[in-house]
Amino acid sequence: MSTPAIDGSIREGAGYTVIENAPMLGRNTLHVAANAEVLIAVHDDAALDALFQLPRLQDGPLLVLGGGSNLLLAGDVEGVVLAMQTRGIERIVDADDHAVLRVAAGENWDEFVHFTLAQGYAGMENLVSIPGTVGAVPIQNIGAYGTEAEEFITTVDAFDRSDRQRVRLDRAACAFGYRDSVFKHERDRYVITAVEFRLPRRRPVQLDYAGVREELAELGHDDPQPEQVAEAIARIRARKLPDPLLVGNAGSFFKNPMVDGATAARLRASFPALPQWCAGDGMHKISAAAMIEAAGLKGHRDGAAGVSDQHALVLVNHGGASGGALLALARHVVATVHDRYGVTLEAEPRILSATL
Ligand code: FAD
Ligand code: EPU
Repeated sequence: MSTPAIDGSIREGAGYTVIENAPMLGRNTLHVAANAEVLIAVHDDAALDALFQLPRLQDGPLLVLGGGSNLLLAGDVEGVVLAMQTRGIERIVDADDHAVLRVAAGENWDEFVHFTLAQGYAGMENLVSIPGTVGAVPIQNIGAYGTEAEEFITTVDAFDRSDRQRVRLDRAACAFGYRDSVFKHERDRYVITAVEFRLPRRRPVQLDYAGVREELAELGHDDPQPEQVAEAIARIRARKLPDPLLVGNAGSFFKNPMVDGATAARLRASFPALPQWCAGDGMHKISAAAMIEAAGLKGHRDGAAGVSDQHALVLVNHGGASGGALLALARHVVATVHDRYGVTLEAEPRILSATL
């Protein structure tokens, strides 16, 4: 491979493309216009070994980018954006009762979910219609409708920037939690190159999340198979959440806060209508959307930055909102909820480079 050089405006290398002063509009679903100092689109992860010889990639600021669907760019991006665009699904095991698939980081998650269902594997149906790439899935251990990705992830392959070695992390090393993993705590140390999933051929469908059974009944599926569950959940999601192709958003902008038993009891006493769920280990999950809505912020707008009128947990860009304006709105939501409930909301998306 030739020595990579990143001093031109657009340059091709073996397995990568370098773009100087790259526009990020079109690379983040909040539709924020920002520029990146340099963006390297990686098409072959073998290129990482050569790219990480460059001091700029070893020590400077780095953003590993997938589909940009969980990202708020508060301003222009300093340093290097490494856009993972590698493709490929490898069947490692194909047994009677399960399969093991190794999937490249740049594969589209929702396409992969549909691929697994079409192949007759079960498990991914509740995780349908989540935007983004496979490489980003372990970062926050994506979850929806009662399922989390960690249930199926066996290993994560990554390039470890700290010692420029390729590593394979098993599930325990990933330290998955609710919207959490080791990767969130060691930002950009690991460039995830592939994720391995173990998928059963048969698995009882998970229908307990509110609204799923009703949707299936409406569709006339009385003995639902995984593909039919996916169809029902895709329909619910399409109604509940704004489509990022039409209006900029990053899905839930805040995590549902986890509080201890005493805080949960205080909230129950003062706000009996506020939904909360047992989250194990004496912790309780509180509905952030319900707090935001009851605080009067659903549909609130400050210029082009707003809280969705479809779902109170989603911040939207009505067109042309800057990252700074969206960040200011997020801070307003946090302060308003804190004043009313004494609970501090945390952002779900990565905010670059600012804090709430
Ligand atoms: P990006 O936004 O590009 O990146 C997100 C984070 O992952 C960043 O920190 C980035 O540095 C890091 N990253 C990305 N790729 C890599 C890699 N290869 N190696 C190392 N780090 C990497 N999420 C849920 O969990 N459940 C949902 O139900 C859900 N619904 C959503 C609905 C909508 C309409 C939208 C817009 C978003 C939703 N999300 C949901 C959030 C988002 O889709 C997921 O977090 C998704 O996994 C992000 O993927 P991405 O490729 O777009 O990641
Ligand atoms: N609610 C409101 N107002 C609203 C919306 C919801 O009060 O505008 C209340 C209702 O009581 C509702 C409850 O919130 O029953 C839960 O709503 P929903 O089922 O939409 O779930 P959520 O807790 O708001 C979480 C995830 C979503 C995921 C859904 C389904 C987080 C931060 N968000 O949302 O994930 O799709 O559950 O499992 O955990 C994402 O992470 O980007 C995301 C969209």
